[in-house]
Amino acid sequence: MKSPLLAVEDLHLTLSVPSGLFKALHGLSFTIEEGEVVGLVGESGSGKSLTASAMMGLLHPSHQITGKILFEGDNLLEKTSQELMRVRGNRLSLILQDPGQALNPVLSIGTQLVEGLCHHKKIPWKQAYAEGIVWLEKVGINNPSERMRQYPHELSGGMKQRVLIAMALICQPSLLIADEPTTALDTTVQLQILLLLSALQKQENTSILLITHDLGIVANFCDRVLVMYAGQIVESAPVKELFSSPKHPYTQALLKSKYSLLGNKNERLHIIEGSPPPLNRQFKGCSFSPRCPAAMDLCINSPPQICLNASHQVRCWREHIPASSQN
Ligand SMILES: Nc1ncnc2c1ncn2[C@@H]1O[C@H](COP(=O)(O)OP(=O)(O)O)[C@@H](O)[C@H]1O
Ligand SMILES: [Mg+2]
Repeated sequence: MKSPLLAVEDLHLTLSVPSGLFKALHGLSFTIEEGEVVGLVGESGSGKSLTASAMMGLLHPSHQITGKILFEGDNLLEKTSQELMRVRGNRLSLILQDPGQALNPVLSIGTQLVEGLCHHKKIPWKQAYAEGIVWLEKVGINNPSERMRQYPHELSGGMKQRVLIAMALICQPSLLIADEPTTALDTTVQLQILLLLSALQKQENTSILLITHDLGIVANFCDRVLVMYAGQIVESAPVKELFSSPKHPYTQALLKSKYSLLGNKNERLHIIEGSPPPLNRQFKGCSFSPRCPAAMDLCINSPPQICLNASHQVRCWREHIPASSQN
């Protein structure tokens, strides 16, 4: 059987902060196949961006990472920083939330867009520049030759995000990590950008890890979804299955709060009681147990193991124990 494009295996991250060490990511395991769009969804502070930074090799060396990040057959955690620089921006790309921060204000759009292409593909500047104009057209920017000479402050937020998408895709990476790529944009522009990303993904057959807190985005743009809570993946499933038959009480609560926004105006809005724990809080049992309406004694005292059933996985004791024996 063909190996997946990306396989993250038992990834643990311990952050080193002034007050000491704390475990932020607890044994993440997931795969992304060629051409697949996988959503990583969870409330703010659940560790989504840390996961992206770990995958890109962007964390400070004082933080400790264990496990494997197998990308195109190589473990990225064993690569030197020079080897990683050859992968990043080339085979593996990242788009961040805030387009305003991601572009260098003192370099023209053209320079920023094509320098990676020259560097990674070893092609002359003139050829790369022509390629840059083609890519600005592909991402829907008018007058691309003129835009190449402009500076970031001359572009709107939506246009900057289009430039960043072009920058991320110009080297034709096999995997793009898009970390909340539309959160900083107006609602109308958000949809345009997502539709553009989706069209380019199909054209180029790029795999995407789409990080978001928005289940509507996941429903419309992803093939599969990973649900993250307190530095752990608590459920993963094909999108349709997750929406029709969520198994983890956290996923069920997330979906209920989403649907109640769309549902009957007289219905009470569903809220998940309590708030997500800070990542430095450690749990003896399941990290969702303090908020879980279905928690048993076992959930409070022992960490639930992942329950494997083909493509739908869930980290919940209730999946392991027959309903008749649950208290
Ligand atoms: N470099 C860091 N050093 C210390 N703590 C961090 C660092 N990065 C993130 N954190 C902590 O981890 C938490 C989760 O971060 P993050 O991955 O950004 O969450 P998300 O993207 O899901 O909103 C943050 O709220 C913060 O407390
Ligand atoms: Mg984030």
